[in-house]
Amino acid sequence: MSTLPAPTHTSRPEASAGEAITRYPSLRGRAVFVTGGGSGIGAAIVTAFARQGARVGFVDVAREASEALARQLQDAGLPRPWWQPCDVRDIAALQGCIAQAAQELGDFSVLVNNVASDDRHTLESVTPEYYDERIAINERPAFFAIQSVVPGMRRLGAGSVINLGSTGWQGKGSGYPCYAIAKSSVNGLTRGLARTLGQDRIRINTVSPGWVMTERQVKLWLDAEGEKDLARNQCLPDKMRPDDIAHMVLFLASDDAAMCTAQEFKVDAGWV
Ligand SMILES: NC(=O)c1ccc[n+]([C@@H]2O[C@H](COP(=O)([O-])OP(=O)(O)OC[C@H]3O[C@@H](n4cnc5c(N)ncnc54)[C@H](O)[C@@H]3O)[C@@H](O)[C@H]2O)c1
Repeated sequence: MSTLPAPTHTSRPEASAGEAITRYPSLRGRAVFVTGGGSGIGAAIVTAFARQGARVGFVDVAREASEALARQLQDAGLPRPWWQPCDVRDIAALQGCIAQAAQELGDFSVLVNNVASDDRHTLESVTPEYYDERIAINERPAFFAIQSVVPGMRRLGAGSVINLGSTGWQGKGSGYPCYAIAKSSVNGLTRGLARTLGQDRIRINTVSPGWVMTERQVKLWLDAEGEKDLARNQCLPDKMRPDDIAHMVLFLASDDAAMCTAQEFKVDAGWV
């Protein structure tokens, strides 16, 4: 007779500082680059890869949060991630950081285009300068980060690019039209490069989060009305955590997802 414990499916596992539920042997030792990895979902992604034994590099403008994350991982006995302060609006600086990180960590097998800013704005308030600035954060860096890592992925013979999209614009979310425009372009980036990159076994996919309870989201937007929105729109009752996105990213980065490319994977508790 089997002595396996009875399965429990009644509640979801506790979040545990980015600890992934699943182990991916194929991620051990791989070099991974994450944009905007210092806080929020990016920090959960950095932590999740570090726990898989990957060599992680990231950039962020938030110096304090980034340094705290690097120290926290080191204190937990994990390799300290490579990180540099970098404003991704400066493409030369972004590409310089990727080159520098690759010198230290090796050619990147995985790129996670995570950086974004969902600052609110109205139709009337947007100037051409503000529009360009939103695109410079929310759209442009992903393309140029891909341009930087692809030669290394070709040398490795494979790679995985994961672009963070959003279900916000798909659910007709309002208050951030320029962010919505930029985020809707992520699917175009993924679909538009999949065939070219696929020839070299470089996979490219979009992961589109629903409403994830990062510190920033809770502080800025989660009020009584937000709670009602969650209850009305999600099919599942639990609040989304950064780890929920990191777990999908890990899968797509791993060899277990070897035949997944050109797709969008929504992690939104059924909102859209
Ligand atoms: N949190 C959500 O509910 C949600 C929903 C849908 C999509 N997303 C997407 O998931 C990704 C991560 O979201 P998040 O909520 O963690 O975002 P966030 O705004 O909390 O954090 C993004 C990170 O990017 C950094 N950053 C911002 N501007 C930068 C710049 N100019 N240069 C370098 N770094 C910069 C920030 O310091 C931060 O560490 C984004 O692509 C976002 O669009 C998030």
